[in-house]
Amino acid sequence: MKVFTVEDLAKLIEQHGFDQFMLDLMSYMKKDFSRWEEFDKSPRHAIHVDGGVIELMPVADKKHYTFKYVNGHPKNPLSGLQTVIATGQISSVANGYPLMFSEMTVLTALRTAAATVIMTDILSRKNSKTIALIGTGAQSEFQVLAHMLVRDIQEVRYYDTDPQAMQKFAKNMQDTDGLKLVACKSAEEAIDTADIVIVCTACKGHVDVILDKCIKPGMHINGLGGDCPGKTEFELAILYRGKIVVEYIPQTVIEGEIQRLSPDEIKKMIYAEYWELVTGKKPGRENNEEITIYDSVGFALEDYSALRLVYDLANKYNLGCDLNLVPPIKDPKNLISALTGNKK
Ligand SMILES: NC(=O)c1ccc[n+]([C@@H]2O[C@H](COP(=O)([O-])OP(=O)(O)OC[C@H]3O[C@@H](n4cnc5c(N)ncnc54)[C@H](O)[C@@H]3O)[C@@H](O)[C@H]2O)c1
Repeated sequence: MKVFTVEDLAKLIEQHGFDQFMLDLMSYMKKDFSRWEEFDKSPRHAIHVDGGVIELMPVADKKHYTFKYVNGHPKNPLSGLQTVIATGQISSVANGYPLMFSEMTVLTALRTAAATVIMTDILSRKNSKTIALIGTGAQSEFQVLAHMLVRDIQEVRYYDTDPQAMQKFAKNMQDTDGLKLVACKSAEEAIDTADIVIVCTACKGHVDVILDKCIKPGMHINGLGGDCPGKTEFELAILYRGKIVVEYIPQTVIEGEIQRLSPDEIKKMIYAEYWELVTGKKPGRENNEEITIYDSVGFALEDYSALRLVYDLANKYNLGCDLNLVPPIKDPKNLISALTGNKK
């Protein structure tokens, strides 16, 4: 069984190229979401703990079963720890054997960026050039770099309540060709002239990170941080003005920005599930005036695509390490021989 570390992922991205990896990931995701009906799906299993949440995200088709273990602890950075940490596994459905166990913290940022820009490509105005980025933490650079693959992004207006996170973002992005970085003093200032608004803050609570008065006709909003019961980032009024797309209704009604709507409103106001836009069953943006909202919470199928791609590329580049997480025994009924070797 392959074990795939953070260092392995760094080597893979170096050899394959960041842009190519993102484009391949988007292509895997589009293919997987296009066969939505083939997957055994469920809302993720969440255990809420003091200061955070720990979740398991399984999904399977006839060939592969994957799961991700992921947490969300917004106060972790105060003690030098990351908010989101993840690991994951891909297994063969035919015999249940694990194929690869992988780091998924960096992979989550990559897959979230890929999943987001597929929606940006379908929902934002084609001439979008300016991003407002609210929250410059771990996900932020991945989001911006991925957006540059689908739109001619020339300016990023960014804001975070933590000045150090803003400095870190500016330092990481300063050498990006053709990109103007504008540090802002508030979310309102950042959103002012934006075409695309990305909100990826880690607030535990219903916090009005972006206000209704800031959102103008024609904007596309990617809401990433409202992804848990009791954790949202939009002033509620914004939802009534937007065309709302979600990944998987049974999960998003529990975790997304739409958790604050009544059941009747939810039925009326969700425009589409992700797969319906990817397959073209429903149109994306229909005019330059509408406000479009991707209410993202993160769905297991995105991790399935990411693990599938990494497994394919790990084999191609011969990366990762084969370790005996599965007992290497010749007689399948002689499990004790895994402990005693050939002695018994
Ligand atoms: N939808 C998805 O698929 C998905 C995937 C990964 C992470 N997330 C979520 O995205 C969010 C960001 O994740 P991260 O890994 O970047 O976390 P992070 O802790 O590294 O960064 C979050 C940033 O938000 C800032 N912030 C908090 N409140 C703010 C406010 N009111 N205004 C402006 N900035 C504020 C913090 O200072 C921090 O820098 C989290 O809530 C996480 O759960 C969603």
